[in-house]
Formats: sequence, structure tokens, C-alpha cells
Amino acid sequence: LNIALIYGGISSEREVSLKGGTQVSEALDKTRYQVFRYDPMTDLNRLMADAPKIDAALIILHGPYGEDGTIQGMLELLDIPYQGSGVLGSALAMNKLASKRLYEQAGLPVPPWLHVRQEAASDPAAYMATLGLPIVVKPVSGGSSIGMSIVRTEDRLADALENAFSHDDSVLLESCIEGVEITAGVIGNEQPDPLPLIEIIPDASYDFFDYEAKYKPGATREICPARIDAGLTEKCQAYARIAHSALFCKGYSRTDFILKDREFYVLETNTIPGMTPTSLLPLAAKTAGIGFSQLLDRLIELCLE
Ligand code: DAL
Ligand code: MG
Repeated sequence: LNIALIYGGISSEREVSLKGGTQVSEALDKTRYQVFRYDPMTDLNRLMADAPKIDAALIILHGPYGEDGTIQGMLELLDIPYQGSGVLGSALAMNKLASKRLYEQAGLPVPPWLHVRQEAASDPAAYMATLGLPIVVKPVSGGSSIGMSIVRTEDRLADALENAFSHDDSVLLESCIEGVEITAGVIGNEQPDPLPLIEIIPDASYDFFDYEAKYKPGATREICPARIDAGLTEKCQAYARIAHSALFCKGYSRTDFILKDREFYVLETNTIPGMTPTSLLPLAAKTAGIGFSQLLDRLIELCLE
């Protein structure tokens, strides 16, 4: 098969995409695939021109203009199948406000939240009166914790909002639930199979699982399978499947949760989970006996179904 490997891109997660794309490029089974590489930053015209010879695309892009349905829409127009979610699922999952509403409608627990538009931002004290402290502040669209902060004291909220608004004119505030971060991958189209859960323990020097903690090797301990009992594991895996369906995802997805007092609060769903050497979905797959190359085979198979 001729595979278009699309990575790089223009979002703030470009570096993550380049690392992941490189790893994917090395792992793709060369006896099965001929790989053509494209970076949307420079190669969109070449991709369009080559479309007739491409059998499937692997999109290893994160954040806006990659994970949000835009590249997916272009591939639809070019009639190229691609791994993972389509236009709708990608766009919904990238928007943390739209996804929250759908999680709630599907009965999934979410942390109490408020949505703030830049032009309508009001006195930070009002937000605190509703949500208490600490508060998580994040751009509505984005990933890898870029533009996100945790506000623990009142005087930090204005700066946190300004930082988030520099990435997006729409920002989500959430009560910070202090518990254990657990992530749950699923693989499959309508009825996806759950992968083993991962428990994420950032080194104590990090305030939370931020960008550096996510990608600096050794900065975080990932324990897979997570050290929780079978009942809790099943509950979280069921939630991850519900989140996948609620957001109209396909192929695979990875939903992040906070576990506190035996309840899981959904944070977000990633439709193109990271594929770097420190990334989580490849680790969960490996724990389930699915090596990295095999994982890529499966994603390609699923998109050709
Ligand atoms: N947003 C990053 C790539 C992840 O979820 O792994
Ligand atoms: Mg993300």
C-alpha cells in the first residue's frame, strides 16, 4: 500500500508531531507499505497532486489544523482514507466546550466548569465564587497542556486567563479535581476495544502533567496497567468507550481522566494521541501485546474497513 504520512504541521504541537511522525516512519513495515511523507507547512500542493497514487493516510498531527477535522476534510475531498476520526469527531474532540456538553449528555462525570469568551471576560473573582480554588484554565482548542495553567491563589487567575487567551479567544475554566491522572485508550470503530489503563505520575517538581512533564524522558512515571482494582478499571474503560462514541470518534482515541474517591472525571479525548517515544497510547498498546508497528497496521486496517 502507498501510505501518505502527514506530520509536522503548524500548531503549537508541531514538535510533538515531528517526533511522533519520525517514530511512525521508522516503524511502518516496509514490506507492506511504501511511505510518502508530507508536512502541511510546506507540502499540501504536493499531497494534492499525489492523491491518486495514495491508498491511505496516517495523520500524525496534533491540535488545530491537524487533529481538528481540517486535514480530515481535505482528505475526504481527495478521497483518501485516513486513520482515526472523521471531520465531525475530530472537530468535536478538539473543542473542549463542545466535548464537555456531549460528555455530560452521555452521563459522564466532568469537573464543574465555566466557559469564558475573551470579549465577555468579567471579574476573575466571579469565576472563583463559582468554582472555588484551585481552578484549571485552558484554551478551548489545543493540546499537550499548551496555554494551560492551574491557579491555586486568587492573584494568579488574571495571568492564567491572559496566557490562555493568547492561544484561543475561548477559554474553559474547571474546578481542579486533585486526584490521580488516568488515561484510557480504545481501538476500533463503533465498538472499540479498551486498552490497559495508564496511571500518570509526574515528578514532584511539576505542578501538573504539563508540556515538559509530558515529553521530557524520565519526567513522568507511567504505570501500565494502572494500580487500581478490576471494578474501577472496567468502569474507566467503559467511560472511555462512551466518550469515544459520544464524540463520534472512529479508529482509536485516548480519553484522559482524574480519579478521585472512586469516580473518574473526564478531562478530554484525543483523537490523534501522541506517538512519541514517551507517549501513552503506544505504551498501553504494548502492554496489551500490540507492538508499535502492529498498532500502525491495525489503524490502517481500520480505516480501510
Ligand atoms: N495531545 C497529545 C499529542 C496527546 O494527547 O498525546
Ligand atoms: Mg490533548
